Amino acid sequence: MIKQVYLDNNATTPMDSQVFSAMKPFFMEKFGNPASRHSYGWSAKEAVEKSRKIISTEIHAKSRSIIFTSGATESINLAIKGLCQSQKYQRKHIITQVTEHRAVLDTCAAMENKGVDITYVEVEKDGRVDPQKVCDAIRDDTILVAIMHANNEIGVIHPIGDIGEICRENNILFLVDGAQTFAKIPINVKEMNIDFMTGTAHKIYGPKGIGFLYINYEKCPDLHPQIHGGGHERGLRSGTLPVPQIVGFGKAVELCIVNREAENRKQKKLRDNLIDKVTGSLPNTLINGSLDHRLPNNINFTFPTTDGDSLLIKLEHIAVSSGSACTSAKLEPSYVLQALGHNKELAKASIRIGLGRFTCEDDICYAAEEIIKAIK
Ligand SMILES: Cc1ncc(COP(=O)(O)O)c(C=O)c1O
Repeated sequence: MIKQVYLDNNATTPMDSQVFSAMKPFFMEKFGNPASRHSYGWSAKEAVEKSRKIISTEIHAKSRSIIFTSGATESINLAIKGLCQSQKYQRKHIITQVTEHRAVLDTCAAMENKGVDITYVEVEKDGRVDPQKVCDAIRDDTILVAIMHANNEIGVIHPIGDIGEICRENNILFLVDGAQTFAKIPINVKEMNIDFMTGTAHKIYGPKGIGFLYINYEKCPDLHPQIHGGGHERGLRSGTLPVPQIVGFGKAVELCIVNREAENRKQKKLRDNLIDKVTGSLPNTLINGSLDHRLPNNINFTFPTTDGDSLLIKLEHIAVSSGSACTSAKLEPSYVLQALGHNKELAKASIRIGLGRFTCEDDICYAAEEIIKAIK
């Protein structure tokens, strides 16, 4: 059998077996509905509240400020649309930036169609947002700044603390898409002046289909719900809670917290080895995005003289992607790399590599050989 190595952990991660074990009883034995008022319901509710506590503690927030959703996409939709639809704001302007995930860009575009003004701040050559440019974009009617913590394609970490400070000074709400960082990089919503934050379990070895939205109710008391029904989750997200997924999410967070320093160190070392091997043999290789402000598990290469159309086919033995999972599904060159100044050809001749908890040295040696062979 031909060896396959998974190096697309920024798209999704395999579930940790400990997460799976924690979830299992909640499918068949402890199957109660947490809204029910009997022992089955109570034990389900207890499990849900335990996970909510783990998640809220991780970001230094109160339990009640966490709303469970189906993932980061839904959380972002709830925050942006919910805010725009709230009666409190008549004239509306939102600031975001050009390399956000489609979940933010497309939701903003949908709001633009409804008359909301959106400013898209450009990024610098290293892929980071300059906080001054966010500051310069602020208007009297700005209600929200939406900037991701780390980019899903190039792994670049934005200066969230500085941008949060600007938002605080100007009394503007701040949304941070933490899909790539939650539980991997410590974050403190109070210190960083974050009013909305998202996270998703499937990026941290948990199940797919579960995420959260953190809401700072003190600054934003009247968010408009997007899913109506039984009034679950403080009336903001109706629907019976998926208890096994929520239990798995909590367990995944616990495991990340215990292991994160060692994991981040190991992944950075392996990632840097891969960079050395690839750039040593292919000196024309370009590295996209800042190396100093970057997720330890991510690297994004451009191979300038390569035909991008056949690149992923030639790399069939390693699971990497060109662009993010959603843009590679559309077979379009990455808009993130184009925002960094690459033309379409260069953007196509690029790959994103995401290491994970289960990546080992052998995988990296194999991937380096496959990449070098394919490009040469
Ligand atoms: C930065 C970022 N935001 C949002 C999302 C969407 O997350 P989900 O799959 O939980 O909807 C992803 C994952 O694809 C992501 O990487």
